[in-house]
Amino acid sequence: MENTKKIVLVGFMGSGKTFLGEKLAKQLDVPFIDSDKEIEKKYKKSINQIFESEGEDAFRLKEQNFIKALKEQKSFVLATGGGMPCYSTNMDLLKNLGLTVYLRLSTTVLAKRLLKDNENRPLIIDNQLEQLQTFIKEKLVVREQFYNNAHIVLEEKDQTIDSLLKVIKNG
Ligand code: S3P
Repeated sequence: MENTKKIVLVGFMGSGKTFLGEKLAKQLDVPFIDSDKEIEKKYKKSINQIFESEGEDAFRLKEQNFIKALKEQKSFVLATGGGMPCYSTNMDLLKNLGLTVYLRLSTTVLAKRLLKDNENRPLIIDNQLEQLQTFIKEKLVVREQFYNNAHIVLEEKDQTIDSLLKVIKNG
């Protein structure tokens, strides 16, 4: 099936899109693409610098242009930035691009992970655990309306390469 070679991982910051995406790409023998890294490369600025110097709206526009430019690419596993599917028509664009998989995790798990890994994430930089939990909870209320439209919603227990490969084959 065409979609088995174009996989789009969506989910909150810290949900493991890059971690699982890299492994999955290796298994499927297709290129791995990380949207944040590609945007940083293209504009020669870190995500933090883009947020600081141009603001979030400009970043979201860059994300949308990035999705549109991927249309011609034949095969890939794409790890999207956590906010990418939640702006404008991006979720529809992503769904047209390939098989979308939402890596769903609880606020508690996400907060624990993000506490240790927030340096290049301007929206949560320097947040403490309680602040993080509040931030995640509030954002998820809005963002899950988009994430849940993914072709596949994968719960924590199924977030392994074997389960991913299985659902992709059936997807
Ligand atoms: C963002 C998530 C980040 C990055 C930017 C904004 C978000 O990507 O795109 O910091 O709005 O959730 P990751 O999900 O890869 O951390």
